[in-house]
Amino acid sequence: MNRISGMLAAPATLVALLAFSAQAATDDDIARRLEPVGQVCVQGQACTGTDVAATAGGARARSPDEVIAQHCTACHSAGLLNAPKIGDAPAWSKRAEEQGGLDGLLAKAITGINAMPPKGTCGDCSDDELKGAIDKMSGLK
Ligand code: HEC
Repeated sequence: MNRISGMLAAPATLVALLAFSAQAATDDDIARRLEPVGQVCVQGQACTGTDVAATAGGARARSPDEVIAQHCTACHSAGLLNAPKIGDAPAWSKRAEEQGGLDGLLAKAITGINAMPPKGTCGDCSDDELKGAIDKMSGLK
């Protein structure tokens, strides 16, 4: 008999614990839901909401591989529309000579050239991110 009630008590304790932690999670959820959705930002004061947005919007620089994979391979891996192919160093160095070096290529990549769209379709890429992608694709650095 003792053994049986012991076996029954263990699951009962477990259920009580689960109920308690479920309640704690619910209180947290409610507190979170009660937080203000938006915050008023006053000019001249630090605005925490915009900090968060800036970070979420990509404050971290993307690696050359990320930029290339997301934006450049579409044309530059197959050499679409006469785009210099990734890793084809001779083709890239010829272009670099024509544009006065890698910085010249960066300038063309930013403005776009013929079928090459401005910033290679990476509208929110920084100059550094584009430069990293060009360095890597050209194999010149
Ligand atoms: C829609 C296709 C397309 C995409 C996407 C694209 N490119 Fe290009 N790119 C081209 C073409 C086509 C050329 C060759 C243009 C020409 O000289 O006529 C080119 C040329 C270039 C050049 C050489 C410019 C010059 O002056 O010779 C650079 C640098 C370049 N691309 C960088 C990039 C980077 C960096 C990305 C990704 C962020 C990218 N491209 C994405 C099509 C593309």
